[in-house]
Amino acid sequence: MSLILRRFTHQDLAKVVYINRRCLPENYSESFFMQLYRSFPEAFLVADDGGDVVAYIMCRVERGFFGSPKRGHVISIAVLPQHRRRGIAYALMVEAMKALHALGAEECYLEVRVSNKPAISLYEKLGFKIDRRVHGYYLDGEDAYIMRRKLPLEDEILNRPMRGISRGINPPRSVEGGNE
Ligand code: COA
Repeated sequence: MSLILRRFTHQDLAKVVYINRRCLPENYSESFFMQLYRSFPEAFLVADDGGDVVAYIMCRVERGFFGSPKRGHVISIAVLPQHRRRGIAYALMVEAMKALHALGAEECYLEVRVSNKPAISLYEKLGFKIDRRVHGYYLDGEDAYIMRRKLPLEDEILNRPMRGISRGINPPRSVEGGNE
């Protein structure tokens, strides 16, 4: 069975919390994940490999100051180590940014550790540029880059071959053909 991207459901919570703790020092409470899911279900996606969740991305839409456009914010993305370099993060980012744009976001931004070369390379491939450096952003004192890009995505990013990942957002496997 091929790897699909689909929206997060509450049945995925334990696995997503596990992936977050396994892959990142920035960990969140279950209630934080559920709060984002309830607010922006379109932009909380998982990669499902034959029924096994192996990666997630969680985002929200933020309103700027009065008169400024809505912005998409990538809160967290992680792929289990044994599933990396398959294009999963790229595909999750593309689908999440399409969802953020559909929700009215005119740009997308995120924070990344200055030492996180794989993630910075991923974001650059997706057209993000470093906007600024925030000193001591992380709890352990490391600096962050704020990276951003305008939306929507260009065709060359949208049309990049997906390496065995089916394009678009699929329904949950358990309820295919029905409503969640
Ligand atoms: N070294 C260098 N570049 C890398 C890389 C690595 N280890 N991993 C990904 N990239 C870059 C490459 O440009 C790659 O394109 P290519 O495969 O054509 O060379 C591009 O990202 C897309 O890679 P992809 O396979 O989609 O990434 P992934 O599924 O392996 O996930 C991360 C990338 C960063 C999400 C994953 O390494 C991860 O979960 N890391 C721990 C959590 C984390 O750091 N999250 C981001 C916090 S800001």
